[in-house]
Parts: sequence; structure tokens; C-alpha cells
Amino acid sequence: MSPTRIIHKLRIMQQLALRWRAQGLRIAVVPTMGALHDGHVALLRAARRKADKVIATIFVNPSQFGPREDFAAYPRPFAADARRCAEAGVDVIFAPAPAAMYPPDFSTWINEEALTQYLCGARRPGHFRGVCTVVAKLLNITQPHLALFGQKDAQQALIIQRMVRDLNMPVRIVVHPIVREPSGLAMSSRNQYLTADEKGRAAGIARNLRQVWAWHAQGLTLAAIRAKLRALLRREVSPQIDYVSIVDEGTLRAVRTPHKRQKLLIAVALFVGRARLIDNLRLTW
Ligand code: PAF
Repeated sequence: MSPTRIIHKLRIMQQLALRWRAQGLRIAVVPTMGALHDGHVALLRAARRKADKVIATIFVNPSQFGPREDFAAYPRPFAADARRCAEAGVDVIFAPAPAAMYPPDFSTWINEEALTQYLCGARRPGHFRGVCTVVAKLLNITQPHLALFGQKDAQQALIIQRMVRDLNMPVRIVVHPIVREPSGLAMSSRNQYLTADEKGRAAGIARNLRQVWAWHAQGLTLAAIRAKLRALLRREVSPQIDYVSIVDEGTLRAVRTPHKRQKLLIAVALFVGRARLIDNLRLTW
């Protein structure tokens, strides 16, 4: 296997991808903001199995951070990331400069208008506008046949699938299951912000989410499940809950009285120390 190449220039990346396509090679891309963890590595390895050429993009996208969010503090351990990409058999790391992605007169944005009304979209105004725009740009530059995203960011994956469908983008979106630490904590670059004590408490997110299956089996109502989950998260993890929502998995609309076999997403977001953590679990009613 040839060594991982690092490309910073947009034009060079796009020309290489177009050349690969002309040669009939299948391209997979894994868009990331770096600070790679085992969840990213699982995506890279899945991409390696599915394609001839694997591109990892590393770009901390300024347009998806709110003014009071952690853009400046976001970890950027590029050398370690490059090593992990090499170990996972990545062909190219595409790491563009912010000024090249967003020149001063940049003025075209993508707004998905339905799914972004809920969950993180409601709590982080403009976040998904930044995500959709950068993902569309990265897809145009890397020209992939498939692009892989993690189920931890369930809303992001759904919105990207909708964007790709609505805008007829010729790429298949693959959503990979959540990768967890042995404690159950969902892997996230933001876990780096946690102290040992906070990490211990954060493990309670997954533990309490899993209770939902048991409560459902015991016949609790959806309202009771939501209330119990919220109370446990407050007590065992953090009082700073951003949301605890039970929504339809396809529309993300809140569900009050589920119909039989309805596919639900139990989605939570909470602040633990200075980290905002999200996690989710699927439940068929
Ligand atoms: O999930 C992420 O890391 C980011 O939102 C993404 C998809 C790389 C876009 O910046």
C-alpha cells in the first residue's frame, strides 16, 4: 500500500479525484474535523473495505460553530491524525486552509429547512447550514462514490442524506453505528475536554439511554420514559441538560403517542464540564 499523501490545495485534490474516476476507481470519503478517535478509525476502515481509494478530510469548519462555541479551542493534533490515517490505509488526507474554503466574498450557503428545526438544529442556530455547505463543498472537491458518517450525529447524517437526495448529488451516504468506549461513552473528539471525574459521569449517558429498552419492555408510556431518563441524566450525569427528546426517526418530529412499530430516536444533549455531549438510541415502539 502506498503512503498516505497530504493535499492542502482544493484544485489538486479535485483533479486527482477526477483522474481516479476516469480510471474507473471507486472513491470513498470520510469527512472529519480531525482529533481522530476510534469512531473515526472505524469509518476509515469501513471505507477501506468498500472502495479503491479512501480520502479523509480534516477541516475544522468555522461556519458550523456558533459565536460562543469551541471553534478556537477545538483540538487540532494534525501529526497524530496523519498517523492514524496512515494506519487505517487512507490514500489521501485532504486538509484545506479555511481561507481557501471560504474566500472573503464567499456567498453561497445550503439550508435544509425541515429536519434542521429540531434537536441540535433548534439549539445551535446556523450549525447545519455550516455543515451542509461544507459537506457539499467537500463532496464536490473529492468526487466520492460514497461518503461515510457516524450514527452518533444521527441528525447530521439524516440531514446530509436529505441534502444529497434533494440536490441530486451522485454519492451514496453510509451511516456507521456508534462506536463506544468500554464504559459505553460514545466516542467524540470533545471527550478530550473531560476530566477523569467528568468522563466517569459521562458514561452514565449511555447507561441510562440503554434503560429505555427495559422501560419499554416493562410497558411504560413514552412520557414516563422521557421523564425517567431526564431525571436520571440530571442526577447521575449533569444538571445542564440541553435536550432529552423522543422523535420520529425519519422526520425528527417529537412523538407523544407513538403508533405500533413506529421507529423512534431517543436523542440527548447535555453539558458535562465544558463539553457538550450528544448520544442517541433507536427504539421500535
Ligand atoms: O461530523 C463532523 O465532524 C463535521 O460536522 C463534518 C461532517 C466533518 C463537517 O464539518
